[in-house]
Parts: sequence; structure tokens; C-alpha cells
Amino acid sequence: MPNRVEGRVCIVTGAAQGLGATYAKALAEEGAKVVVSDIDDASAVAAEISASGTQALALQNDVSDWESCQDMVAKTVEKFGRVDVLINNAAIFGNLERASIDEITPELFDRVMKVNVSGTFLCTKATIPVMREQGYGKIVNISTSRIFAGLPYYVHYDASKGAVFGMTRAMANELGDDGIRVNAIAPGSTMSENVKARTDWRDGGPAAKLAGRSLKRLQEPDDLIGACIFFASAESDFVTGQTLVIDGGGAMW
Ligand SMILES: NC(=O)c1ccc[n+]([C@@H]2O[C@H](COP(=O)([O-])OP(=O)(O)OC[C@H]3O[C@@H](n4cnc5c(N)ncnc54)[C@H](O)[C@@H]3O)[C@@H](O)[C@H]2O)c1
Repeated sequence: MPNRVEGRVCIVTGAAQGLGATYAKALAEEGAKVVVSDIDDASAVAAEISASGTQALALQNDVSDWESCQDMVAKTVEKFGRVDVLINNAAIFGNLERASIDEITPELFDRVMKVNVSGTFLCTKATIPVMREQGYGKIVNISTSRIFAGLPYYVHYDASKGAVFGMTRAMANELGDDGIRVNAIAPGSTMSENVKARTDWRDGGPAAKLAGRSLKRLQEPDDLIGACIFFASAESDFVTGQTLVIDGGGAMW
């Protein structure tokens, strides 16, 4: 079933590399016009998408900054005229060191919450007026399967992604009458560039996760594409407030 998001205008945050770039390229392959946003330069990903014949726009935004989020949406509307899909993927994650509660400073805890929680809130807040006007929109938040497992050494990160899980439900209820669907993806440990480069594992790393999975192999970025396209497309138009765990059958809740 090709072109499942044909003509849809999709913003993907945190898409200069990693899983965000995977989502952006996958949406473009299914016919979407994609805004590739990141605090870093995302022009290489946008150029790759454009070279394959689909329209893309690179933007540099800080999701934790309200004005920057408003600017991201304004530039998207200026270029493409609407916003159908927002993928709230940007987060402090890949470069965040494993640390115990004693090691995490109050400042670091706040910074993780500011980007991962406020960032998701602010991008959504900036986008919903446009979606409301259209009477239609799809918001896809990114949580993690870790929140269902109670794992150590990442309490700042897990707190932030637990908040994303809660916000997904609250937002879905509040925005349903506007035709805006809000769902979340909760990936297991996935071999993005930064995860592959990580050396500070305290729990045995990705290989140790296999024992707890029904499907015993490493999780790859492409494993998340199906859910991303489903939540971005009309196929999920009667689905909202849901969090889909994609981790090979590790967390079952
Ligand atoms: N890879 C995994 O194992 C895994 C598992 C579960 C959930 N996730 C989530 O998936 C998403 C992507 O994962 P990844 O492995 O590609 O992570 P990553 O850390 O490699 O990528 C995050 C991206 O967000 C961008 N970013 C950071 N702060 C930003 C800000 N203030 N404004 C805008 N952009 C900002 C970074 O520049 C980066 O490109 C994250 O939300 C992560 O929490 C990842």
C-alpha cells in the first residue's frame, strides 16, 4: 500500500540524524512533504529527501524555546500551507550519560525535563491552532518502553518519558473535538547512531535486553517505521490516546 501519507505535511523534530531522520525519510517515501527540524543543522537529511524527488524543508529549532517552536510552525505553514502531522521526536537522549540518582544534579534533571517534556508540550501547543483550523491533525509523541520496566540509572530520562506517556492521554482527550489525534510510540532500545556509539552501559547494553524479549534480536530503526506511518496516516483516524510499545515483546502492559 504505497503513498499512505500522500500530500500530508509532516514536521519531525530532532530529525538531523538518528530515529528522527528515519521517520522523516520514511514519511517522504510514503508521499509526505517533510519538515526536518533539529537544534543541529538538518539540511543534509532534507537534501537527501529532496534528491529523491519529495519536497523537504530543513529548519533549525530548539523545542524547549516557545518562540522557536512558533517559528517552526510559521515557516512550515509559509512553505507548505498546512501541518497535518507532528512527530515530537526531539529529546535529550543519545548523549545523556547513564547516572544514578546520587549522580544526577538538580540542574541536569531540570534540563532533561525542559527539552523532553516542555519540548513536546511547546511543539504541540504551537501546532494545534493550525490543526484546529483544518479540523484535522495527527500528533505522534515519542516515549520509551523503559517506563514500563522500572530500570535504574536513567531516572531523569524515564521521568520525562513517563510524562510524555501521560500527556499523550490528556492531550488526546482535550483535542478530540478538534479532530486532532494524539498517540505515542514507545520504542525499546534501538540501534540508532548514538545508541551504537554508547559506551556507558551499566545494565549490559542492548545485548542484555534480548533475554527479556519475545523476539530475540537487536531492535533496528526500521522496526519503528510501520507505527510512525500508521499514526501519521488516515489508517489510524479512529485511534487516539494510545501508546504503542515496539520492543519485540519486552514490555507487555
Ligand atoms: N534509540 C533508542 O534506543 C530509543 C528508545 C526509546 C525512545 N527513544 C526516543 O527516540 C527519539 C530519538 O532517539 P535517537 O536514538 O535518535 O536519539 P538521539 O539523541 O540520537 O537524537 C535526538 C535528536 O534530538 C535533537 N535535539 C536534542 N535537543 C533538542 C532541542 N532542544 N531542540 C531540537 N532538537 C533537539 C538532537 O540534536 C538529536 O538529533 C528520542 O525521543 C528518544 O528519547 C530512543
